[in-house]
Amino acid sequence: MIPEIEALASKTIERIAAAENPEALETVRVEVLGRKGSLADFGKLMGKLSAEDRVSAGKALNSAKTSLEAAYEIKKTAFESAALNERLQNEWLDLTIPPTGILPGSLHPLTQIQNEIESLFFSLGFAILDGPEVETEFYNFDALNIPPDHPARDMQDTFWLEGGHLLRTHTSPVQIRGMQRLGPPLRMIAPGRVFRNEEVDPSHEHTFYQLEGMMVDRDVSVANLLYFMKTLLSGIFKRDVTVRLRPGFFPFVEPGFELDIQCMVCGGSGCPVCKHSGWVELLPCGLTHPNVLRAGGIDPDQYGGFAFGLGLTRLVMMRYLIDDIRWLQSGDLRFLKQF
Ligand code: PHE
Repeated sequence: MIPEIEALASKTIERIAAAENPEALETVRVEVLGRKGSLADFGKLMGKLSAEDRVSAGKALNSAKTSLEAAYEIKKTAFESAALNERLQNEWLDLTIPPTGILPGSLHPLTQIQNEIESLFFSLGFAILDGPEVETEFYNFDALNIPPDHPARDMQDTFWLEGGHLLRTHTSPVQIRGMQRLGPPLRMIAPGRVFRNEEVDPSHEHTFYQLEGMMVDRDVSVANLLYFMKTLLSGIFKRDVTVRLRPGFFPFVEPGFELDIQCMVCGGSGCPVCKHSGWVELLPCGLTHPNVLRAGGIDPDQYGGFAFGLGLTRLVMMRYLIDDIRWLQSGDLRFLKQF
């Protein structure tokens, strides 16, 4: 039996050496060293040998087993370290590469301009008010002298909600809330988001920002209005801005005006932002209609007021020469990182 054991041992040593991968090695282990393998078969035959032969065959079997197990372990370790080396080759970090840097956050250009205008008006004694984006018909229309059958309701494409609510189409409802809260005399501004059900194009968004302003006092005139508008524009643009005043109709002001500024994107020669007219409507304004003062609980025989609705989004586009309104809400970091 001993020659057979030795023959098996040397053949198995060769097979272990020749194994090309861990699976092949495992097959050899199972076939030879396993519980039902060839070595175990020899073990079962031991009982049939004479006592003398059994001792020598047992020794041969043990030494074959020991050397095969050692060969198997060496080969297995070799496979494991090869696998580890391969991983180390493929998965590594170059700790000497300089860091890409942490992206610092920055204020959106709309927020920046809003902050500037707020501090300008704050220094002029104006309160800064906030109003709800979901409004009632009363605050958005009726109290602003826009009755249900008034054609001006069609001027604004409204997102209607359930129960007579709507997304405010302008910041003007905050005029009424401001009058109710502050009482006369008052100076207030109200920046905020407004919504219109409009086709989106380079100069129209369904969501944009306005900044409402209102002053109520005794003897408020167009001269007062113009003074504040000029202070506002020179504060924002920090240079001469060409403006023009046109009559404008808004049911909540009388007289009403449109203050246009010459388009700063194209310098007046015409571009998509100014719809090729050279002018941009920036600031509708006027003297507060008596009905509006009344709706705010103020006696129009005692007090007068002016109001304006600044298009904050337009203003940002003018200031930074942005030619498409859609950039502002795009969330695109390539755009935002410039500010
Ligand atoms: N609320 C008007 C609009 O959104 C703008 C406006 C405000 C006009 C105040 C006059 C006075 O179109």
